[in-house]
Amino acid sequence: MKTYFLVSALLALVSFVRAEIYCNETQACPEELPCCSLTGICGSGTFCLGSCNPKYSFGLDSCLPVPICKDMTTDFKSYTSKLLNTYTYLGNVSSADWTYSGYAMDYDDDGSLILAMPKNTTGSVLSSTRYMWYGKVSARLKTSHLAGVITSFILYSQVQDEIDFEWVGADINMTQTNFYWQGELNYTNSGNISTLDTYDNYHTYEMDWQEDYVKWSVDGVVGRVLYKNQTYNATSGEYKFPQTPSRIQLSIWPGGAASSPEGTRAWAGGLINWDAPDLEDPGYYYMSLQQINITCNDPTEGIVRNGTQAYKYLSTDSFYHKDIGIVDANVLVGNFNGTGEDPQTSTTRSSTSSSSSSSSSSSSKGSASGSGSSTQLMGSSVIFNNSTTFTTESRSQSSTSIPAVQSTAFIQNTGSPVSSDNNAFKLQAGLSSILICILGYLL
Ligand SMILES: *[C@@H]1O[C@H](CO)[C@@H](O)[C@H](O)[C@H]1NC(C)=O
Ligand SMILES: *[C@@H]1O[C@H](CO)[C@@H](O)[C@H](O)[C@H]1NC(C)=O
Ligand SMILES: *[C@@H]1O[C@H](CO)[C@@H](O)[C@H](O)[C@H]1NC(C)=O
Ligand SMILES: *[C@@H]1O[C@H](CO)[C@@H](O)[C@H](O)[C@H]1NC(C)=O
Ligand SMILES: *[C@@H]1O[C@H](CO)[C@@H](O)[C@H](O)[C@H]1NC(C)=O
Ligand SMILES: *[C@@H]1O[C@H](CO)[C@@H](O)[C@H](O)[C@H]1NC(C)=O
Ligand SMILES: *[C@@H]1O[C@H](CO)[C@@H](O)[C@H](O)[C@H]1NC(C)=O
Ligand SMILES: *[C@@H]1O[C@H](CO)[C@@H](O)[C@H](O)[C@H]1NC(C)=O
Ligand SMILES: *[C@@H]1O[C@H](CO)[C@@H](O)[C@H](O)[C@H]1NC(C)=O
Ligand SMILES: *[C@@H]1O[C@H](CO)[C@@H](O)[C@H](O)[C@H]1NC(C)=O
Ligand SMILES: *[C@@H]1O[C@H](CO)[C@@H](O)[C@H](O)[C@H]1NC(C)=O
Ligand SMILES: *[C@@H]1O[C@H](CO)[C@@H](O)[C@H](O)[C@H]1NC(C)=O
Repeated sequence: MKTYFLVSALLALVSFVRAEIYCNETQACPEELPCCSLTGICGSGTFCLGSCNPKYSFGLDSCLPVPICKDMTTDFKSYTSKLLNTYTYLGNVSSADWTYSGYAMDYDDDGSLILAMPKNTTGSVLSSTRYMWYGKVSARLKTSHLAGVITSFILYSQVQDEIDFEWVGADINMTQTNFYWQGELNYTNSGNISTLDTYDNYHTYEMDWQEDYVKWSVDGVVGRVLYKNQTYNATSGEYKFPQTPSRIQLSIWPGGAASSPEGTRAWAGGLINWDAPDLEDPGYYYMSLQQINITCNDPTEGIVRNGTQAYKYLSTDSFYHKDIGIVDANVLVGNFNGTGEDPQTSTTRSSTSSSSSSSSSSSSKGSASGSGSSTQLMGSSVIFNNSTTFTTESRSQSSTSIPAVQSTAFIQNTGSPVSSDNNAFKLQAGLSSILICILGYLL
């Protein structure tokens, strides 16, 4: 399984430095490092935000409540200066609408934000800082292309409910849709929408997520509808329907990495070619994002409403819709040692994990059967803080349709923009490459 594999690889990497504390359905996090990341590692600080999973954390209050949805339109033209790094963001929603991990750049000619995947890396992820609890989200984007390269636009909750658009680079005339409930691996729920050349053309993709249905549309035409009543499981008496507050995430990732499980690789269209022309010019695989609209539609009935600012899990009963309330609550930690119980703590904690990050999240699932795989959000950055220089010869010299990115490149994991010139493209390729090597080695 991909997730198991990625997580164990990440853990192997981490354990070079020190023993980490893990969390899962049988083992919650301890009080001193109370927050369980989606990769199953316990920590504090950024671990208690974003992907913090309340099911496996120390207590119901360990993960901070998450900021409520806000109607907005984001134009991603010249946007990198407004992005913050996922690994240093401490939850101040006034400071950013979106965070990134990986490689984000402005492509001014196109008025878009590029999410890139340089050679041997695990790509990039853009995440909303606010959560949506039903509503509509649409994105105008161009996908990447070629075998093994996955582009995704998803809604992803802390308890791993998920609604997806995914594009497999091997078939640029197809949009795939999927959903998951509480991280349960079921590969029979994907659906296809034919779409004309998602790589060369901007299309608008919309997920309309309501309490009773999800509708996936392309350019205003509904291509798939899922009704909640179709997800009822009579054995368990549950609606296996995504129903918890979710972040919006866009990403590019290597489903066809040599280290991916066979099923994921097959679904991704085969092995990724790290010597494809894109890696020469512009120097990376990429997707381009122009605009996102968000229209919120919070539930009004059947939930606790005692405020307007945040979504909070109020009961450990089942982590369903009914267990969540809308409250007024603090949503940020004061420092990397902060937790939901003690956001401003000055306590020193016993693991380095508290000083960096949760590597955001990793897919909760892979593909056993070659059908849909979920987004892989491997972020890295647990240990290495410095950057290595990665040079690509012919960037920005292109006269083809491939973007020649001129403005700003980000160094992964620092959050600070650095100006790039025409020849040198500074990236923290180091960790990702090492990770990939380890992944390869483990296989
Ligand atoms: C959960 O984590 C504990 C501690 O790391 C480990 O011993 C146990 O095998 C794990 N259980 C599962 C189901 O992964
Ligand atoms: C949050 O960010 C805003 C805008 O950058 C800033 O004015 C405010 O002081 C920050 N709040 C905290 C608690 O850091
Ligand atoms: C990518 O990985 C291959 C195989 O491990 C290695 O030979 C190559 O130097 C790496 N390239 C970069 C740019 O990291
Ligand atoms: C966002 O909304 C505006 C105004 O309704 C519309 O013109 C635009 O096409 C929408 N963009 C997307 C990505 O849905
Ligand atoms: C996508 O569809 C168009 C129109 O049918 C066709 O011309 C093109 O060859 C297709 N591209 C691929 C990669 O299949
Ligand atoms: C997967 O989902 C399908 C359709 O929703 C359902 O029929 C099937 O039983 C599910 N499989 C498992 C293992 O839950
Ligand atoms: C969707 O299309 C892909 C080819 O692009 C195909 O491999 C897959 O089986 C299709 N899935 C479904 C559910 O039809
Ligand atoms: C599910 O709900 C939809 C919309 O309310 C309805 O049209 C459909 O008949 C229902 N299907 C089942 C199996 O109950
Ligand atoms: C119901 O869910 C169980 C797992 O919880 C699964 O084994 C079973 O196949 C599902 N049945 C249906 C009809 O979906
Ligand atoms: C409602 O929220 C306020 C503070 O925001 C809190 O003092 C009060 O206990 C809450 N009431 C309930 C019923 O949860
Ligand atoms: C957080 O804990 C570490 C030790 O784990 C300590 O070095 C650091 O000073 C603490 N930071 C703050 C802001 O308390
Ligand atoms: C990064 O760290 C490695 C190992 O500590 C060191 O050899 C290298 O010079 C550092 N690179 C930079 C750019 O600081």
